[in-house]
Amino acid sequence: MGGAEVDSSSTPESRWSLEGTTALVTGGTKGIGHAIVEELARFGAAVHTCSRNEAELNECKHEWGKKGFRVTVSVCDVTSPSERQKLITTVSSLFDGKLNILINNVGTNKMKPTTEYKAEDFSLMMSTNFESAYHLSQLSHPLLKASSAGSIVFLSSVCSVISVNVGSIYSAAKGAMNQLTKNLACEWAKDNIRTNCVAPWFTTTPLAEPFLTDENMFKAIISRTPMGRVGEPKEVSSLVAFLSLQQNVVFPATMSVHNTQI
Ligand SMILES: NC(=O)c1ccc[n+]([C@@H]2O[C@H](COP(=O)([O-])OP(=O)(O)OC[C@H]3O[C@@H](n4cnc5c(N)ncnc54)[C@H](OP(=O)(O)O)[C@@H]3O)[C@@H](O)[C@H]2O)c1
Repeated sequence: MGGAEVDSSSTPESRWSLEGTTALVTGGTKGIGHAIVEELARFGAAVHTCSRNEAELNECKHEWGKKGFRVTVSVCDVTSPSERQKLITTVSSLFDGKLNILINNVGTNKMKPTTEYKAEDFSLMMSTNFESAYHLSQLSHPLLKASSAGSIVFLSSVCSVISVNVGSIYSAAKGAMNQLTKNLACEWAKDNIRTNCVAPWFTTTPLAEPFLTDENMFKAIISRTPMGRVGEPKEVSSLVAFLSLQQNVVFPATMSVHNTQI
Protein backbone atom coordinates (compact mmCIF):
# COMPACT_ATOMS: atom_id res chain seq x y z
CA MET A 1 0.00 0.00 0.00
CA GLY A 2 1.53 3.33 -1.07
CA GLY A 3 0.82 6.81 0.23
CA ALA A 4 0.57 8.13 3.80
CA GLU A 5 2.18 6.15 6.60
CA VAL A 6 -0.14 4.53 9.12
CA ASP A 7 1.04 5.02 12.69
CA SER A 8 0.80 1.44 13.94
CA SER A 9 1.63 2.50 17.52
CA SER A 10 -1.50 4.67 17.82
CA THR A 11 -3.98 3.72 20.53
CA PRO A 12 -7.80 3.71 20.36
CA GLU A 13 -7.73 6.70 22.75
CA SER A 14 -5.60 8.72 20.33
CA ARG A 15 -7.51 7.56 17.26
CA TRP A 16 -10.90 8.46 18.77
CA SER A 17 -9.96 11.95 19.88
CA LEU A 18 -9.87 15.39 18.31
CA GLU A 19 -7.96 16.92 21.22
CA GLY A 20 -5.64 19.66 19.93
CA THR A 21 -7.40 19.96 16.57
CA THR A 22 -9.27 22.89 15.03
CA ALA A 23 -12.49 22.83 12.99
CA LEU A 24 -14.69 25.14 10.94
CA VAL A 25 -18.32 24.04 10.60
CA THR A 26 -20.52 26.23 8.40
CA GLY A 27 -24.15 26.66 9.45
CA GLY A 28 -23.81 25.44 13.04
CA THR A 29 -26.85 27.06 14.65
CA LYS A 30 -29.45 24.53 13.55
CA GLY A 31 -30.05 20.98 12.42
CA ILE A 32 -27.16 18.82 11.30
CA GLY A 33 -24.55 21.60 11.60
CA HIS A 34 -25.50 22.18 15.24
CA ALA A 35 -25.10 18.46 15.97
CA ILE A 36 -21.71 18.43 14.17
CA VAL A 37 -20.41 21.37 16.23
CA GLU A 38 -21.34 19.51 19.43
CA GLU A 39 -19.93 16.18 18.26
CA LEU A 40 -16.54 17.63 17.23
CA ALA A 41 -16.32 19.76 20.39
CA ARG A 42 -17.14 16.72 22.54
CA PHE A 43 -14.20 14.90 20.88
CA GLY A 44 -12.00 17.81 22.01
CA ALA A 45 -11.75 20.01 18.89
CA ALA A 46 -11.76 23.81 19.07
CA VAL A 47 -14.62 24.69 16.72
CA HIS A 48 -15.58 27.86 14.86
CA THR A 49 -19.00 28.13 13.28
CA CYS A 50 -21.02 30.69 11.34
CA SER A 51 -24.53 31.48 10.16
CA ARG A 52 -26.37 34.63 9.03
CA ASN A 53 -28.10 35.27 12.36
CA GLU A 54 -25.96 36.92 15.05
CA ALA A 55 -28.51 36.56 17.87
CA GLU A 56 -28.84 32.80 17.25
CA LEU A 57 -25.08 32.41 17.04
CA ASN A 58 -24.63 34.12 20.40
CA GLU A 59 -27.40 32.05 21.98
CA CYS A 60 -25.79 28.82 20.74
CA LYS A 61 -22.35 29.99 21.87
CA HIS A 62 -23.73 30.64 25.35
CA GLU A 63 -25.25 27.12 25.53
CA TRP A 64 -22.04 25.53 24.23
CA GLY A 65 -20.03 27.44 26.82
CA LYS A 66 -22.25 25.99 29.57
CA LYS A 67 -21.49 22.50 28.23
CA GLY A 68 -17.76 23.22 28.37
CA PHE A 69 -17.29 23.20 24.59
CA ARG A 70 -14.67 25.46 22.97
CA VAL A 71 -16.71 27.13 20.22
CA THR A 72 -16.29 30.56 18.65
CA VAL A 73 -18.79 32.12 16.27
CA SER A 74 -19.04 34.82 13.61
CA VAL A 75 -21.66 36.03 11.18
CA CYS A 76 -21.12 34.98 7.58
CA ASP A 77 -23.43 34.59 4.61
CA VAL A 78 -21.47 31.94 2.74
CA THR A 79 -22.93 33.06 -0.61
CA SER A 80 -20.97 36.33 -0.33
CA PRO A 81 -17.34 36.19 -1.60
CA SER A 82 -16.21 39.01 0.73
CA GLU A 83 -17.88 37.39 3.77
CA ARG A 84 -16.28 34.04 2.94
CA GLN A 85 -12.88 35.74 2.79
CA LYS A 86 -13.56 37.47 6.11
CA LEU A 87 -14.60 34.14 7.69
CA ILE A 88 -11.37 32.43 6.67
CA THR A 89 -9.31 35.40 7.86
CA THR A 90 -11.06 35.14 11.23
CA VAL A 91 -10.49 31.38 11.39
CA SER A 92 -6.85 31.80 10.44
CA SER A 93 -6.26 34.32 13.19
CA LEU A 94 -8.17 32.26 15.80
CA PHE A 95 -6.33 29.03 14.95
CA ASP A 96 -2.86 30.39 14.23
CA GLY A 97 -3.06 29.76 10.48
CA LYS A 98 -3.88 26.05 10.86
CA LEU A 99 -7.16 24.25 10.31
CA ASN A 100 -7.57 20.48 10.66
CA ILE A 101 -11.22 20.11 9.74
CA LEU A 102 -13.52 21.95 7.32
CA ILE A 103 -17.17 20.87 7.36
CA ASN A 104 -19.06 22.37 4.41
CA ASN A 105 -22.50 21.96 5.96
CA VAL A 106 -24.60 24.97 4.86
CA GLY A 107 -27.42 24.05 2.53
CA THR A 108 -30.82 25.29 1.45
CA ASN A 109 -33.70 24.14 -0.72
CA LYS A 110 -36.78 25.49 -2.47
CA MET A 111 -38.78 22.69 -3.99
CA LYS A 112 -40.66 23.41 -7.24
CA PRO A 113 -41.32 21.56 -10.48
CA THR A 114 -38.39 22.23 -12.82
CA THR A 115 -40.57 24.21 -15.25
CA GLU A 116 -41.36 26.72 -12.47
CA TYR A 117 -37.85 27.51 -11.27
CA LYS A 118 -36.65 31.07 -11.95
CA ALA A 119 -33.08 32.20 -12.61
CA GLU A 120 -32.84 33.57 -9.05
CA ASP A 121 -33.82 30.15 -7.58
CA PHE A 122 -31.04 28.55 -9.60
CA SER A 123 -28.54 31.17 -8.53
CA LEU A 124 -29.47 31.00 -4.82
CA MET A 125 -29.37 27.22 -4.62
CA MET A 126 -26.19 26.77 -6.62
CA SER A 127 -24.38 29.49 -4.69
CA THR A 128 -25.57 28.26 -1.28
CA ASN A 129 -25.21 24.52 -1.86
CA PHE A 130 -22.23 24.28 -4.18
CA GLU A 131 -20.36 27.50 -4.98
CA SER A 132 -19.88 28.45 -1.32
CA ALA A 133 -18.47 25.03 -0.45
CA TYR A 134 -16.16 25.13 -3.47
CA HIS A 135 -14.70 28.52 -2.59
CA LEU A 136 -14.50 27.85 1.15
CA SER A 137 -12.48 24.73 0.35
CA GLN A 138 -10.15 26.79 -1.89
CA LEU A 139 -9.75 29.50 0.75
CA SER A 140 -9.13 26.93 3.49
CA HIS A 141 -6.54 24.98 1.51
CA PRO A 142 -3.46 26.83 2.89
CA LEU A 143 -4.75 26.43 6.47
CA LEU A 144 -5.59 22.73 6.01
CA LYS A 145 -2.20 22.10 4.43
CA ALA A 146 -0.43 23.97 7.23
CA SER A 147 -2.06 21.67 9.81
CA SER A 148 -0.27 18.65 8.20
CA ALA A 149 -3.45 16.61 8.83
CA GLY A 150 -6.41 18.18 7.10
CA SER A 151 -9.88 16.83 6.52
CA ILE A 152 -12.79 18.20 4.52
CA VAL A 153 -16.30 16.79 4.81
CA PHE A 154 -19.08 17.94 2.48
CA LEU A 155 -22.74 17.52 3.38
CA SER A 156 -24.26 16.06 0.24
CA SER A 157 -27.58 14.18 0.06
CA VAL A 158 -29.02 10.88 -1.11
CA CYS A 159 -30.74 12.93 -3.86
CA SER A 160 -27.25 13.40 -5.38
CA VAL A 161 -27.21 9.78 -6.49
CA ILE A 162 -30.87 8.80 -6.95
CA SER A 163 -33.98 10.70 -8.02
CA VAL A 164 -35.88 11.97 -4.98
CA ASN A 165 -38.75 14.43 -5.27
CA VAL A 166 -36.91 17.36 -3.61
CA GLY A 167 -36.19 19.57 -6.62
CA SER A 168 -33.80 19.32 -9.55
CA ILE A 169 -31.50 22.26 -8.68
CA TYR A 170 -30.77 21.05 -5.14
CA SER A 171 -30.10 17.53 -6.44
CA ALA A 172 -27.80 18.78 -9.20
CA ALA A 173 -25.85 20.93 -6.72
CA LYS A 174 -25.36 17.91 -4.45
CA GLY A 175 -24.28 15.78 -7.43
CA ALA A 176 -21.65 18.41 -8.26
CA MET A 177 -20.51 18.26 -4.64
CA ASN A 178 -19.92 14.50 -4.93
CA GLN A 179 -17.71 14.98 -7.95
CA LEU A 180 -15.84 17.84 -6.25
CA THR A 181 -15.24 15.47 -3.31
CA LYS A 182 -13.59 12.92 -5.60
CA ASN A 183 -11.44 15.56 -7.30
CA LEU A 184 -10.20 17.16 -4.08
CA ALA A 185 -9.63 13.75 -2.48
CA CYS A 186 -7.17 12.95 -5.28
CA GLU A 187 -5.75 16.45 -5.87
CA TRP A 188 -5.08 17.38 -2.24
CA ALA A 189 -4.07 13.97 -0.86
CA LYS A 190 -0.43 14.98 -1.47
CA ASP A 191 -1.01 17.85 0.99
CA ASN A 192 -2.27 15.38 3.63
CA ILE A 193 -5.82 16.62 3.21
CA ARG A 194 -8.48 13.90 3.13
CA THR A 195 -11.78 14.75 1.46
CA ASN A 196 -15.04 12.91 2.02
CA CYS A 197 -18.72 13.57 1.73
CA VAL A 198 -21.70 12.33 3.67
CA ALA A 199 -24.99 11.90 1.85
CA PRO A 200 -27.87 11.81 4.34
CA TRP A 201 -31.42 10.64 3.75
CA PHE A 202 -34.24 12.78 5.24
CA THR A 203 -33.18 13.97 8.68
CA THR A 204 -35.26 15.84 11.27
CA THR A 205 -34.10 19.46 10.88
CA PRO A 206 -35.74 22.81 10.05
CA LEU A 207 -34.70 22.32 6.40
CA ALA A 208 -36.55 19.01 6.13
CA GLU A 209 -39.58 20.12 8.15
CA PRO A 210 -41.83 20.98 5.17
CA PHE A 211 -41.29 17.44 3.80
CA LEU A 212 -41.74 15.69 7.13
CA THR A 213 -44.86 17.59 8.25
CA ASP A 214 -46.75 17.06 4.98
CA GLU A 215 -48.64 13.80 5.48
CA ASN A 216 -48.44 12.62 1.86
CA MET A 217 -44.78 13.51 1.47
CA PHE A 218 -43.93 11.84 4.76
CA LYS A 219 -45.73 8.64 3.68
CA ALA A 220 -43.85 8.69 0.37
CA ILE A 221 -40.52 9.13 2.19
CA ILE A 222 -41.18 6.33 4.64
CA SER A 223 -42.31 4.00 1.83
CA ARG A 224 -38.77 4.38 0.39
CA THR A 225 -37.03 3.89 3.73
CA PRO A 226 -36.43 0.26 4.73
CA MET A 227 -35.97 1.19 8.41
CA GLY A 228 -39.36 2.93 8.38
CA ARG A 229 -38.05 6.12 9.94
CA VAL A 230 -36.08 9.24 9.04
CA GLY A 231 -32.64 10.14 10.39
CA GLU A 232 -31.63 12.19 13.42
CA PRO A 233 -28.96 14.92 13.22
CA LYS A 234 -26.81 12.99 15.73
CA GLU A 235 -26.62 10.00 13.37
CA VAL A 236 -25.20 12.24 10.66
CA SER A 237 -22.86 14.09 13.01
CA SER A 238 -21.37 10.81 14.26
CA LEU A 239 -20.46 9.87 10.72
CA VAL A 240 -18.99 13.32 10.07
CA ALA A 241 -16.90 13.09 13.25
CA PHE A 242 -15.69 9.61 12.27
CA LEU A 243 -14.50 10.98 8.94
CA SER A 244 -12.84 13.91 10.70
CA LEU A 245 -10.72 11.80 13.03
CA GLN A 246 -7.13 12.15 11.97
CA GLN A 247 -6.22 8.46 12.09
CA ASN A 248 -8.87 7.33 9.65
CA VAL A 249 -6.39 6.68 6.88
CA VAL A 250 -8.64 3.82 5.78
CA PHE A 251 -10.96 6.43 4.25
CA PRO A 252 -8.66 8.51 2.09
CA ALA A 253 -11.06 9.17 -0.78
CA THR A 254 -14.54 7.88 -0.24
CA MET A 255 -18.12 8.96 -0.47
CA SER A 256 -20.01 7.82 2.60
CA VAL A 257 -23.72 7.29 2.59
CA HIS A 258 -25.89 7.74 5.65
CA ASN A 259 -27.36 4.53 7.04
CA THR A 260 -31.01 5.44 6.53
CA GLN A 261 -30.56 5.69 2.78
CA ILE A 262 -33.03 3.70 0.68
N1 LIG B 1 -32.18 17.64 6.78
C1 LIG B 1 -32.15 16.76 5.78
O1 LIG B 1 -33.09 15.96 5.58
C2 LIG B 1 -30.95 16.70 4.88
C3 LIG B 1 -30.83 15.59 4.02
C4 LIG B 1 -29.73 15.53 3.17
C5 LIG B 1 -28.76 16.51 3.20
N2 LIG B 1 -28.89 17.58 4.05
C6 LIG B 1 -27.85 18.59 4.02
O2 LIG B 1 -27.30 18.76 5.31
C7 LIG B 1 -26.86 20.11 5.48
C8 LIG B 1 -27.50 20.71 6.73
O3 LIG B 1 -28.90 20.70 6.53
P1 LIG B 1 -29.94 20.97 7.71
O4 LIG B 1 -31.12 20.14 7.39
O5 LIG B 1 -29.28 20.85 9.03
O6 LIG B 1 -30.30 22.53 7.39
P2 LIG B 1 -30.99 23.62 8.35
O7 LIG B 1 -31.74 22.94 9.41
O8 LIG B 1 -31.73 24.52 7.43
O9 LIG B 1 -29.73 24.42 8.95
C9 LIG B 1 -28.91 25.13 8.05
C10 LIG B 1 -27.85 25.93 8.80
O10 LIG B 1 -27.10 26.67 7.83
C11 LIG B 1 -27.24 28.08 8.07
N3 LIG B 1 -27.28 28.76 6.77
C12 LIG B 1 -28.20 28.63 5.79
N4 LIG B 1 -27.89 29.41 4.75
C13 LIG B 1 -26.74 30.04 5.07
C14 LIG B 1 -25.91 30.98 4.41
N5 LIG B 1 -26.20 31.45 3.17
N6 LIG B 1 -24.79 31.43 5.03
C15 LIG B 1 -24.48 30.97 6.27
N7 LIG B 1 -25.23 30.10 6.96
C16 LIG B 1 -26.35 29.64 6.36
C17 LIG B 1 -28.53 28.21 8.87
O11 LIG B 1 -28.55 29.41 9.67
P3 LIG B 1 -29.18 30.80 9.12
O12 LIG B 1 -30.35 30.42 8.25
O13 LIG B 1 -29.56 31.54 10.35
O14 LIG B 1 -28.08 31.47 8.34
C18 LIG B 1 -28.44 26.96 9.75
O15 LIG B 1 -27.55 27.16 10.82
C19 LIG B 1 -27.26 20.84 4.19
O16 LIG B 1 -26.17 20.88 3.31
C20 LIG B 1 -28.35 19.96 3.61
O17 LIG B 1 -28.48 20.11 2.23
C21 LIG B 1 -29.96 17.69 4.88
